[in-house]
Amino acid sequence: MTNNYNHIAFIYDALVRLVFGHQLVKAQRCFLSELPQNANILFVGGGTGKILPELLSIAQPHIVDYVELSPKMISIAKKRCLHQERVQFIQKDFNDFVPNKKYDVVITFFFLDLFEEEKINRLIQKINMSLSTDGLWLFADFVDRGHYQWYQKVFVKLMYAFFRLFTNVERHKLPHFLNHFAKHSLHTIKVKHFFHGLISSKILVKEKRGA
Ligand SMILES: C[S@@+](CC[C@H](N)C(=O)[O-])C[C@H]1O[C@@H](n2cnc3c(N)ncnc32)[C@H](O)[C@@H]1O
Repeated sequence: MTNNYNHIAFIYDALVRLVFGHQLVKAQRCFLSELPQNANILFVGGGTGKILPELLSIAQPHIVDYVELSPKMISIAKKRCLHQERVQFIQKDFNDFVPNKKYDVVITFFFLDLFEEEKINRLIQKINMSLSTDGLWLFADFVDRGHYQWYQKVFVKLMYAFFRLFTNVERHKLPHFLNHFAKHSLHTIKVKHFFHGLISSKILVKEKRGA
């Protein structure tokens, strides 16, 4: 099975902390205060839910639909927000998830970089369809910005080699997200970079026709 995070769920947070320090959490946190309050949020591939308690307290969402493939990742996330009726945990492949509403906010953190380009294209199409007209997509991921030092290239190769070994991840190099965003008429309104420019956090919106 590809992208199988069950084997490493129990050490995922420790591993991330060891390799990236606080950079991944900072990238997830940086725009939480920009989200509208009382929003309907779709959180895709949220993993162990490390950022969930902060999301709940900062953004005060109406609901969070938390769609995550790995049962082990979900069970850790559930323990992080006991008695939180606002979060609905949905153990599902996002490809099979059929939203019954449009969301004010969609969140993907370190999710899309797992997939091959054509799948990324389909997943972004689905994210776009799930977003309301004025909705925000909060995105954080490893990105190819085209100008890396040799040691960053080596780091990316090692990172994908590790994840291919333990989670069967599909990719071996960073995706060209900018091409995908342009193809789906998604426009960046906020951006911050982390981890020597290898990670970008963004708020994306649908481009308005005629704007
Ligand atoms: C690299 S982890 C990131 C977890 C979390 N967002 C974070 O930043 O700590 C990717 C997560 O996406 C989940 N995932 C992979 N494929 C998925 C799919 N098709 N649908 C839903 N979740 C998926 C994995 O189980 C894993 O928890």
